[in-house]
Order: sequence, then C-alpha cells, then structure tokens
Amino acid sequence: MTKQRVLSGVQPTGNLHLGNYLGAIQGWVEGQKEFENFFCVVDLHAITAPHDPRTLAANTLTIAALYLACGIDLEYSTVFVQSQVPAHSELTWLLNCLTPLNWLDDMIQFKEKALRQGEHVSLGLLDYPVLMAADILLYQADKVPVGEDQKQHLELTRDIADRFNHLFGQGQVLLKPPTSLIRAAGARVMSLSDGRRKMSKSDPSDLSRINLLDPPDLIQKKIKNCKTDPVRGLAFDQPDRPECQNLLTLYMLLTGKSKDQVAAETAPLGWGQFKPLLTEALIESLRPLQNRYQALIADPSYLEEVLHQGSYWAGEIAHQTLTTVRQALGYWSPRGSKP
Ligand code: TYM
Repeated sequence: MTKQRVLSGVQPTGNLHLGNYLGAIQGWVEGQKEFENFFCVVDLHAITAPHDPRTLAANTLTIAALYLACGIDLEYSTVFVQSQVPAHSELTWLLNCLTPLNWLDDMIQFKEKALRQGEHVSLGLLDYPVLMAADILLYQADKVPVGEDQKQHLELTRDIADRFNHLFGQGQVLLKPPTSLIRAAGARVMSLSDGRRKMSKSDPSDLSRINLLDPPDLIQKKIKNCKTDPVRGLAFDQPDRPECQNLLTLYMLLTGKSKDQVAAETAPLGWGQFKPLLTEALIESLRPLQNRYQALIADPSYLEEVLHQGSYWAGEIAHQTLTTVRQALGYWSPRGSKP
C-alpha cells in the first residue's frame, strides 16, 4: 500500500522555540515512519516581514540542522529549502490568479502581522497563505501537521484546491485538498509572560519563550521569571488559570507522563516546588537535541548535501504537479514537450 504524503515547514526567522517543536516538529518525528514526508525550510515566507539578508542563509541552515537534530530521519523524510524549488513561486502566481482577494484579507494572521508591521505591510504578507497553499498542493499532500494557528491557512488551501479543480479540472481532482494534523496537546503553546498569548518568535521579549538552543542557565532564568498565579495547588483545566494550564501541559509533554500522572504529582505542589521540576524536564529533554545540533552545524558540507538531494527530489515531484496545472490552464508549450 502506498503511504499517504505529509508536507510541512517552518520559517527560518531566527531560532525555533518550544511552540514550533511541540506544536509541529515533534509530531512530524513521531509520525514519520507512517507517511512519505516532505519537510521544507520556508525561506520565501521569511521575507514577508522585514528581514536581514546577512542572516537568512545561516538561519536556513540552522533550521535544517534543527529538523535533523529533533529526529527527522532521511530514510523516511525529504528535507529541502523552499526557494531551491522554483515551482513554489510559479504555482503561487498561477494560484494568485484564481484566488479571490477577499479570501485573503480575512486571514487572522495577516491582520495580526499587518498591525505589527504598520506602514510597511507588503503584498507578499497578504499573499503568504497562497504561497503556503502552493507548498502543500505541489506535493499533493494528504496531511499537513501544524500548530493550531495554521488551521485557517489550511482551510484556505482546501478552498483554493477545490476552486482550481472546479474551474479547470473537468471533473478530475488535479490538486488534492489536504487535511490538517493538529495535536491534541501542544498545538498552542503559550507565552511564558502571558498565558493568554501564543508563544511566538515575534514577541520582543526573549523571556517569553524557550528556544530550542537555549543553554541550561538561561532556561533556569526564564522559568524562574515566568508568570504564574497566586492560587495554591496546581491543576489542569481550571478557569482563569492559563499559566497553570500551559506550564503543566509543557511538563506533561516533555516528560512523556500522562495527564493523570502529572495531575497527581503536582496537586500538592506550590510554584516554588514545581518550577525546578519543569526546569529540569526542559534541560534534560533539550540536551540530546542540542548535542546533535552542535555536531550537525559543525559539518556544513553534510547539510549542504542533504539539502541538495532533498531539493532535487522535491523538485521532481513538484514539477509533475506544475505540469498538470499548466496543462489545465491551457499554456502553450513547444510541440512534443509538456507545458
Ligand atoms: P512558523 O515558522 O511560524 O511556525 C512553524 C510551526 O510551528 C507552529 N507553531 C506553534 N505551535 C504551537 N504553539 C505555538 N505557540 C506555535 N507557534 C508556532 C506553527 O503552527 C507551525 O506549524 N505558515 C507556517 C509555515 C509554512 C507551512 C507551509 C506549514 C509555510 N508553508 C506548508 C505547513 C505547510 C508557519 O506558521 O511557520
């Protein structure tokens, strides 16, 4: 039986944080044997916000190395860089021309980011979800494992696929509408400074997040300073205790303990006793990943080879879909060759 296909990606905007890991990458790793996987570093998305050309390439390599350090296995997964496969840009243009503009200005992430960017909002930021749809549809992905914040973009991807098939498919499904894979726990990791806000790369305070490459003393400092509440005793699912819910969930996911186990263990504890446990769990679960990362990043020629091969293979698959789309849209091509 052929395996279902998975595609997902992360932007190379600085370091990865615990939200990216628990909401997305840990799920990719756990599911990778079951699927045929494509994981890209989405560097075209990275320039939809102001960026620094001096760090883009290095950040791209960092994210690729982190994928491998987190446990992405090249036996089951293809790792590649989005901009190395030009079909992503071309399909985006073709899909742009059939995506109604009012589907885009409704996107929650666009509204949030546009507010932050003020006068400098680019057309690229508005178009971000169409580029994401192109990423997914090029590979005819069945499943897209992402955090909860990407749900709306996935719905848009399905709508774009349906619209393309309806307008140009002549009764066939030429672009497969994907489904999102969103984890039950970890899909929305919250900020350490405010349990009602998502942990985010764009939060100006580094104390609001745990980055995967944070050293132990920094993790300790961040947990020591993180926001808690004055209520005695720790428990899940309590109204108005978002920080408690977030920190217990992190502890549960990092230790691999069940919710019941964590609830029993932490019920008698105060924050002063729980914080060292959480700190220890964070340091110990990130340590092996950080060691693997250091070894990988010290060998750029290996990473280059991985990405070179990945882009080649991804390009082969992407090209097939692009050809189908060009044919359906009626493009001219030299006689005997496909458009
Ligand atoms: P990015 O880099 O912003 O986020 C990468 C992944 O991390 C998840 N995530 C979170 N999960 C839980 N809690 C959080 N606080 C948290 N913050 C981020 C995101 O949901 C995402 O899964 N638009 C995508 C990148 C992308 C993509 C794609 C993904 C471009 N093309 C095609 C899938 C398929 C994004 O959010 O990147």
